[in-house]
Amino acid sequence: MGARGASAVDDHRRRAVALVTGGSSGIGLAAAIALARGHGRIGILARDPVRLQAAAARIREVVPGTEVRAYPVDVADAAAVARAVGQAVAELGPPRRVVLSAGSVELGETAALSEAAHRRGMEVNYFGCLWVLRAVLPHLSAGAAVGLVGSAGGVIGIYGYAGYAPAKFALRGLAEILRVELAGRGIGVTLCLPPDTETPMLWREDRLRSPVTARMAAGAPRMTAEAVARALIRGMDRGRFLVLPSLSVRLMWWLAPLLLPVLQRRQRRLLQDPALASAHVFADHMDEHRQDPP
Ligand SMILES: NC(=O)c1ccc[n+]([C@@H]2O[C@H](COP(=O)([O-])OP(=O)(O)OC[C@H]3O[C@@H](n4cnc5c(N)ncnc54)[C@H](OP(=O)(O)O)[C@@H]3O)[C@@H](O)[C@H]2O)c1
Repeated sequence: MGARGASAVDDHRRRAVALVTGGSSGIGLAAAIALARGHGRIGILARDPVRLQAAAARIREVVPGTEVRAYPVDVADAAAVARAVGQAVAELGPPRRVVLSAGSVELGETAALSEAAHRRGMEVNYFGCLWVLRAVLPHLSAGAAVGLVGSAGGVIGIYGYAGYAPAKFALRGLAEILRVELAGRGIGVTLCLPPDTETPMLWREDRLRSPVTARMAAGAPRMTAEAVARALIRGMDRGRFLVLPSLSVRLMWWLAPLLLPVLQRRQRRLLQDPALASAHVFADHMDEHRQDPP
């Protein structure tokens, strides 16, 4: 490539914008770093301003020359999201890539989890995506793409995720409809369903998840946040709707109708095991999540 071609590519990269919710940690941070290689302007959104600044510094360190701006916001707050996205678009420009990775897990049984925990699970993991989408969609043009981070937990319901999985199932429904709605505008929609992935979310779960949930997850290989992010960004670049980043998730997705009764039988058996049962009602201690309302 000649000098003029190279500088045109540089210039294109410098002006290209990507927004990432949950961009301060885990899969979101890995996605922001991956996107920074082709996008010179990155906006990251999450609640904790200190972690956001640390993430911004990390992105600049890994991909020097990237302009990174941090927007502290709770994605469950629709009005605050509209303000944050409006500010990001005004400061950075309209995004070509939007990754929705902000999420949190409320572990527990259906009846034992508090009303607040159930609402929080839905408000962060489902509405938290919806509010960002509503704010950002008017600014997207042909060639843009949106990536939603769902979960393998939104393919088959697994014990322990009553306050989390329903939001991920709902997100899948929204993604399927969005894909149709946005096709006419030339905007791609990609839904990524990661398996257990080595991030602070999973490390917290490792401490708190019930032995039954842990048993169900045992044996399935964990992914790195970087590998999940790479698969998601590649899927968005290629216009794929569904990204199933590991063999275990692919099997789960394709064989779900056959696996469902088998996995349900296994979970019922584990719940009857006296060695595991004592810990299986593990409820509102999840309300310790540091940002929960008092
Ligand atoms: N790790 C896994 O095993 C796994 C598996 C399947 C799917 N997923 C999904 O992957 C996504 C990313 O999770 P992760 O594993 O990367 O977790 P993580 O490392 O804990 O990152 C979560 C990110 O979301 C932000 N966040 C949480 N609640 C928020 C809120 N109310 N408003 C704004 N930002 C919020 C966090 O920052 P603040 O706390 O500062 O707000 C953080 O940046 C989630 O949607 C999760 O459901 C994870």
